[in-house]
Amino acid sequence: MSLDLGDVHIDLVEPVETPVQWIGQWELVEQILACWTSVTADDLPLCPRLVGKPGMGKTTLAQAAGQELEKPVYILQCTADTRPEDLVVSPVLAANGEIRYRASALVSAMVEGGVAILDEANRMPEKSWASLAPLLDHRRYVDSLVAGVRLKAHPDFRCCITMNDDASTYEIPEYILSRIQPLIALGYPDLEEEMAILRYNVNFAPDDLLRMCAEFLQQSHSYRLDYSTRDGINIMRFALKLEKVKGTPIEEAFHQAVSQVLGEGAEDLETRSREALIQDNMIDFGSLFGTLEDEVDEEP
Ligand SMILES: Nc1ncnc2c1ncn2[C@@H]1O[C@H](COP(=O)(O)OP(=O)(O)O)[C@@H](O)[C@H]1O
Ligand SMILES: [Mg+2]
Repeated sequence: MSLDLGDVHIDLVEPVETPVQWIGQWELVEQILACWTSVTADDLPLCPRLVGKPGMGKTTLAQAAGQELEKPVYILQCTADTRPEDLVVSPVLAANGEIRYRASALVSAMVEGGVAILDEANRMPEKSWASLAPLLDHRRYVDSLVAGVRLKAHPDFRCCITMNDDASTYEIPEYILSRIQPLIALGYPDLEEEMAILRYNVNFAPDDLLRMCAEFLQQSHSYRLDYSTRDGINIMRFALKLEKVKGTPIEEAFHQAVSQVLGEGAEDLETRSREALIQDNMIDFGSLFGTLEDEVDEEP
């Protein structure tokens, strides 16, 4: 598929193929769908930001909400290296030596009237965010500097941002944060939901392993350790593989899988949470120390 704007031809990318299923917390899907609704003919959709720890289901939730609209869903994986043109249109060298233009997943969604998920967008630098400012407000367009064209969003275009709730990311400027509202926070699932999610994702797991893993995750949540659903899925899959290949009894395989997926000592939740607390405080102390040093430097 391509978009023709006079002399400029822009190739579009394909939407995601494999559908996902979201289990539990349907309220979160409804909140996203509410953001995307127009109350009157001239009311514009909102672009929510989904925030949570890694592996808690942000991408899955966004895609599940997109599927509910029965529109194509496009995912753009953002990184610290994502440049403005990666978000909009990039030039590619074709086999015949010609320069062709390729639309990003975001622009493909804008053109097709689909849903765009800017995944892990808080890894992006400010310069890249800046190119999205007009898209995220009432203007609903982006400019491609590379192709020299302005690209307008189809009226059906919807957008959603996911962000990891961890420290390894840039500060997002206020003028951007004000355009990606509201915030939808992903909390931990309860025991029944956790079991159902694990069962759906590892549907060949026996009940005793499911319960062991779900209870372990629930306990870790109460210590505020960020062991995630994704970790749980990996633990169960590795335990079942150990059982199959080596004949390891499932409980022993579970403990081995926990320590190899989450690290040695991961089941000692109390010690782990104390270590995590000390580490967080050291980061705070470090920045405080930095501030004090700066102040001292400013002295004449
Ligand atoms: N509520 C849920 N329903 C179904 N699968 C889930 C749910 N929550 C998490 N998962 C599963 O957990 C894994 C991690 O989810 P993902 O969406 O990739 O997390 P994140 O984007 O927050 O890092 C995926 O395999 C996903 O299928
Ligand atoms: Mg994700």
